[in-house]
Amino acid sequence: MRNEGIHGEIVDALAGPGYVAVTGYAGVENVLALLASLDTRQQAGRFHHAGIGVGAARALAPAIRGDRISWIDGPEDCAEEAFLTRLDGLRVSSNHGLMMGLEALDMHFASFAPGAGYVRHLDRSPTGVDRVVSVIYYLNQDWQAGDGGELEIETANGLVLVEPRADTLVVFLSAQFSHTVLPAVRERCSLAGWFHRRPLGRPS
Ligand code: OGA
Ligand code: MN
Repeated sequence: MRNEGIHGEIVDALAGPGYVAVTGYAGVENVLALLASLDTRQQAGRFHHAGIGVGAARALAPAIRGDRISWIDGPEDCAEEAFLTRLDGLRVSSNHGLMMGLEALDMHFASFAPGAGYVRHLDRSPTGVDRVVSVIYYLNQDWQAGDGGELEIETANGLVLVEPRADTLVVFLSAQFSHTVLPAVRERCSLAGWFHRRPLGRPS
């Protein structure tokens, strides 16, 4: 039986190919509100360069990963709260439909400056935190072909390219899909998050 609504569509995709990109996930108003939240955090100096690796091996490596991030430690405004609530609906649908046992979502804003990318990687490292499902929501209005910044997902059927257009949500099984963020010619903003089976620590 197919599950209904956009969360049902995502759950069906997780049960099938294991990845999906849906457009029109939260609506343009929510995109604008989240961009305002991002801007507030940027103005307040709340973004820092993201690192790679876990524990003692954690390090900055801008040639590997060039984004600056700001973690959401509980929603700070209505936009963040509404978006996290919507994603919690996906968590509940996944648990009902696939018995995934997802308990927590860890999420940060991300900004890639022009020219910055993130080389091919898996979101779940063998020794790392227990990431089960990855979600990325794009905030880039008027993205043009030629702006670059595609997410390149490695699938059994070859590479799948997703443009980082505003209101597109990408969802995939964290342990199964290597992926790459290609450099863009303009700033590339998103929210990236991971559903965990248990609330665990996170990298810095
Ligand atoms: C990540 C990541 C993809 C994207 O943050 O781990 O792969 O499209 N992001 O921003
Ligand atoms: Mn990733």
